[in-house]
Formats: sequence, structure tokens, C-alpha cells
Amino acid sequence: MQARRCDRTPWDDGRTMSNPLTPAPAAAASPLVRAARGHPGASPPVWFMRQAGRSLPEYRALRAGTSMLDACRDPALITEITLQPVRRHCVDAAILFSDIVVPLVAVGVPIDIVPGVGPVVAHPVRTADDLAQLRPLTPADVSYVREAVRSLVSELGRVPLIGFAGAPFTLASYLVEGGPSRDHARTKALMHGDPGLWHALLGRLADIAREFLRVQIDAGANAVQLFDSWAGALSLADYDAFVLPHSRSVLEPLADAGVPRIHFGVGTGELLASMRSAGADVVGVDWRVPLDEASRRLGPGAVVQGNLDPALLLADWPVVERAVRRVVAEGRAASGHIFNLGHGVLPDTDPDVLTRVVALIHSLSDE
Ligand code: CP3
Repeated sequence: MQARRCDRTPWDDGRTMSNPLTPAPAAAASPLVRAARGHPGASPPVWFMRQAGRSLPEYRALRAGTSMLDACRDPALITEITLQPVRRHCVDAAILFSDIVVPLVAVGVPIDIVPGVGPVVAHPVRTADDLAQLRPLTPADVSYVREAVRSLVSELGRVPLIGFAGAPFTLASYLVEGGPSRDHARTKALMHGDPGLWHALLGRLADIAREFLRVQIDAGANAVQLFDSWAGALSLADYDAFVLPHSRSVLEPLADAGVPRIHFGVGTGELLASMRSAGADVVGVDWRVPLDEASRRLGPGAVVQGNLDPALLLADWPVVERAVRRVVAEGRAASGHIFNLGHGVLPDTDPDVLTRVVALIHSLSDE
């Protein structure tokens, strides 16, 4: 990387790879990938959802005058914004700067990302005619993502890059509601009122999400995360009947792609075992369920990611430190643990606190 190097990366600390005879690119043997495969180190690897974004002054400076979607289509900007939190915090992974609606915009869905609101869809998808407009994604539609991933992989060296996509249900919620929603009422009404159209819509969104992840993996991403942020709005029965088969159809075909797959949602305490059955290697957990209890719910061999409440980062440092240590201790119940927040970094977070959290977690391997 061009900028300041982190003084110490956790894979300089004398740990050995399980199979030194297998040559592997350094990022593919990183603590993040190893933890995801169920080979935890002395302390968990750490990154933060929404680490690239509004909590960083250098992000706000770079984004000034450029819309979110224009930034997501500019390989040089994507690369720089993705690298910013890696330089600043010394996290153990980068996450591609993009958005879950980028592949939808790329196939021609009229969506804008409105500051302070989120994705807004000009013509919500509610009928078979609306669905007919939603065409498949081809790699050429997102050539700027492929270009950015390639340049990031070479800049990042041994720091792994996480690619991502929105899961079919969370994408469908934006398309059906026309924007962010508290109760997802129209989405649930469509799901139950016209199951045929619902499954056709989710099938098409699954194809788009899988193709978007494949583009990132083919360009060199070292792991992928499927964000089903709003799945927690559903009962277990509805999740199993209307959502799980489609998330599985994103994740399972990527099993042979050779990179760990992370599956995350918010408020999914009742859905954890089902989400695991969708086929990911790692299940992301929000702050509502402690990681030892989440591991019990997930069953033997599970690898978890999470789950510090992002709001706690606004408290005094002793509170933060205690909470971080608790999350690390609870994560030891799982077969592997990737430290993260229970959801994204809040815009008001002091970035120095994030840097300190990373340093604390890395220091735990010395204790
Ligand atoms: O995690 C990262 O740092 C990588 C970048 C990333 C963004 N969006 C950048 C972004 C990722 C992984 C996402 C995923 C995403 N986008 C999700 C799933 C994750 C989650 O938070 O649950 C969802 C639901 C979206 C939809 C979306 N896009 C929302 C809700 C918003 C926030 C709207 C607002 O302004 O409050 C966006 C816009 C967005 N995506 C921003 C960023 C940095 C803010 C735009 C800005 O900086 O102007």
C-alpha cells in the first residue's frame, strides 16, 4: 500500500499456517480467511461494517461534490475510499466501497441514494410488468467494480478484500416499498398475496446478487458478505418459505469459488440456524444475541462475526473496552470469530475510538 503502513499486522506475530506446503497468496492465508475457515488465532481478526464512510473526515472530503452513485462507479474513488479505513485503523480486512443497490442501478433500475434517507426507487416493483423490466446482470454492466477490485487487490497486498452484495429479500424490500421502510408492509403483502410473483422477483434478484459476487471474486476479492439487513423483520416460518431458498441460491453455487462467504442480518436471533443453512461459512450476528448464545443456536462448528453494539462506541473508553473484551470472550465459544460491530459504524462515531478498538483486539493476543 502507498500510505502509512500499520506498525504491526497480526500475521507478523509468529503464527504459522496450518499447511506450509500449500503456496497461497498472502491475503488468502490472512487471519480473516483462517478464522472464517474455523482456524482461529490468538485474537480475532477485526473489521467494521461501514468502516468506509461518513465517520471519516477524509471520506467526507473526497466525496464532496460527488453523488454516492457516481462515487460507486469511479474505480479510482472506490479504491481510495476503500483504502482509507485500512490505513487509518489497521483493520484486518477492507470492504469494497459500493452499495447494495449498485447492481440494480447497473441493470437500469431507476434508483437514487438520497443522503440521510437511503435508496429511493422511482418506480417501485409491484406487478409482473414491473418485474419484466428487471433484466439479468452481466459482468460488463459493472466493469468499474471489476477494475476497482483488481486495483485494490494489488494495493492491499496481504490485507484481504471483502466483496459484498445485498440479499434478495433486502433488495426486494427497497424495490417493492420504493425506499427504506420500517414495517416492510407492502413487501410482506406481496410475499403472501402473490407468492408466484414474489418467488419470481426473488429468483431474479438472487441471480443478480450471485453474478455481482462472482464478478468481485473473479477480480480477486478474498471473501464475500451477503447483506440481508432487513431479514429480521420476518418470522422464522416466512423466512424459511419465502427467503431462505433464494439466499441459498446465491450462496451455495459460490461454494467452489474458494473464498469464505459471510451471511449477515439485523434482528435475526430467531433466524440464525436457518440463515446458517443457506450455506455461508460465517454467520454475522447483531448485538442482541451474545456470541456464545448465538453459537449454541447455530450448532456445532459454526463461525460467527460480530457483534459489538455500534452505539457503545459513543460511550467513554472504559465502557467500550469492557464491551470489546466481553465480545471477544463470548466469541471463543464459536469455532471461529471475526470481530465486527452488530451493524454498521454510526456516522457520529469518533474514528479514533475505532482505531483504539482495533489496537485493543490485536493486543489481546499478547495476554
Ligand atoms: O461497509 C462499508 O464501509 C462499505 C460500503 C457500504 C455502503 N453501503 C456504503 C454507503 C456497504 C457494505 C453498504 C451496504 C448497504 N447499503 C446496506 C447493507 C448494510 C447495512 O447497513 O445494513 C444497505 C441496507 C444499504 C442501503 C443504503 N445505502 C443505506 C441504508 C444508506 C444510508 C443512507 C443515509 O445517508 O443515511 C446508503 C447510502 C450509503 N451507502 C452511504 C455509504 C457510505 C452513505 C452515503 C454518503 O456517504 O453520502
